[in-house]
Amino acid sequence: MTHAALHVGEDRSNPIRSECARVEPRCLRTFTASQAVLAASAGSFHWTPEGRRLLDLTSGVLVANLGHNPCGWMSRFSRAMQWPANVGCMDSSPCSKECASPCKGFFRAAPMTAYNAITPIEVRATRMLLETVRSCPGGSRLDQVLWAASGSEAVVKALWAGMALDRNRDMILATRHGFHGKKGLAGAVTGSEHDRERDPRVRFIGFPMHECRDLSMRDQPFDPSPYRAELDALWRQFGMRLGMLITEPYLGGGGSYHPYASYLRMVQQFCREHDIVFILDEVQANFGRTGKLFAYESYGLEPDIVVLGKGLGNGVPVAAAVGRSDLFSAMDYGEGSDTWSANPLNAAAVLATLEEFKCGNVIGDMHKSSRIIESGLNKLRSIPFVAHVRGEKDGMVWGIEMCDYGGKTGPEWANALVGAAYKGVNNEGLHILGPLARKVLRVSPPLVITEAEAQQGMDLLHQIAETLVVEHVDGKNPRPLVSGSR
Ligand SMILES: Cc1ncc(COP(=O)(O)O)c(C=O)c1O
Repeated sequence: MTHAALHVGEDRSNPIRSECARVEPRCLRTFTASQAVLAASAGSFHWTPEGRRLLDLTSGVLVANLGHNPCGWMSRFSRAMQWPANVGCMDSSPCSKECASPCKGFFRAAPMTAYNAITPIEVRATRMLLETVRSCPGGSRLDQVLWAASGSEAVVKALWAGMALDRNRDMILATRHGFHGKKGLAGAVTGSEHDRERDPRVRFIGFPMHECRDLSMRDQPFDPSPYRAELDALWRQFGMRLGMLITEPYLGGGGSYHPYASYLRMVQQFCREHDIVFILDEVQANFGRTGKLFAYESYGLEPDIVVLGKGLGNGVPVAAAVGRSDLFSAMDYGEGSDTWSANPLNAAAVLATLEEFKCGNVIGDMHKSSRIIESGLNKLRSIPFVAHVRGEKDGMVWGIEMCDYGGKTGPEWANALVGAAYKGVNNEGLHILGPLARKVLRVSPPLVITEAEAQQGMDLLHQIAETLVVEHVDGKNPRPLVSGSR
């Protein structure tokens, strides 16, 4: 745990420092003796919670070149984002200069960057994130937050933490065809042993794909023992060098394969038996996609570290590894720090997301639309170029796998459907991304899609797919195909 540097007479800052030391690991920051708490900023100044003014000789860490909270920048920013008028020019007081349009002054508010300092908003976000993850069944091991700015960065930090406790146990097991990002260690645990630039510390293990290839197989019996045998063989070969295991709850980028819970529980059990750190990468599964707030609840798991991202900031780039404090504490000052992690902008986005989920019934309402989409996608299986549909029960993520048909390959049909969906019918189209694993289209609308919108979307998708078949049979083929994959 970070040692909180408590300053005499700072009765507001000190509790924030103490809480920060408890909920965030020291590695998130490089060592800064002051542990300044920054409550507000404007221009070249910060104010502490006690109201003391500090001239900023850091600019965050060379970030706030235009000063803190510049009105002009904020107006331009909100105009560029097409936000409602005056959102950026709040005229909040006291403004250090006159705040007329075009703005030249600064307004006093939470800084947008605060490297190595502590902001109350960051501590609030950390506290609320911990309360949220721990209140869900399976979250009991999640004690601290290591912030990051992207999913892959959070994956890397999770793996570093997994390694820190015993640096001799540096080997990582990763589920084959998983996707954890493209850079560094996140890239190293992505894909399979057949990809380029493999890291010798990584060994890939099987993930049930064939057994989970279609929604119709969801309730069938599943025997995880061959997968367990593979893990046991790796343990016999590498023993105590195996220190971490990382998996997604479902294979997202690998083609939307949603496993039996018994598979993931077996994997977790293996980790427990050998004291291997179990890391669940929920970067895309988090916040409702699997039907519950977190996938560890949906699948009955209790990870040592869960990696969160994507929906965590609802569009603001923020991610986090949340996990056991003994793992994070094994990392030293600065090992997990960088310019953007834990900045107040990220924290505000996280707070807004968590509060929206807490106050509303986003997930409960989503279940109704989920059933409509699943039934619509199920019907799509009558289309001859659709091989399989897979997805999360009561969740909001599916994959439609295409097959070869009528002289065209599955990938060609996948791209044709994306193009035709975009063109749509009567000015109404559908936005779908290019295929995963070359021939799997992902369906993952916002959780707040209404039942009517869901039904409309499925009807349109069906109509477009049927038209493609008819056009093909008629020998027309007027739509250009675009090739490409992830
Ligand atoms: C499961 C999973 N982990 C990690 C990542 C990487 O996240 P980012 O693109 O934010 O680095 C992704 C991105 O798609 C993902 O789906």
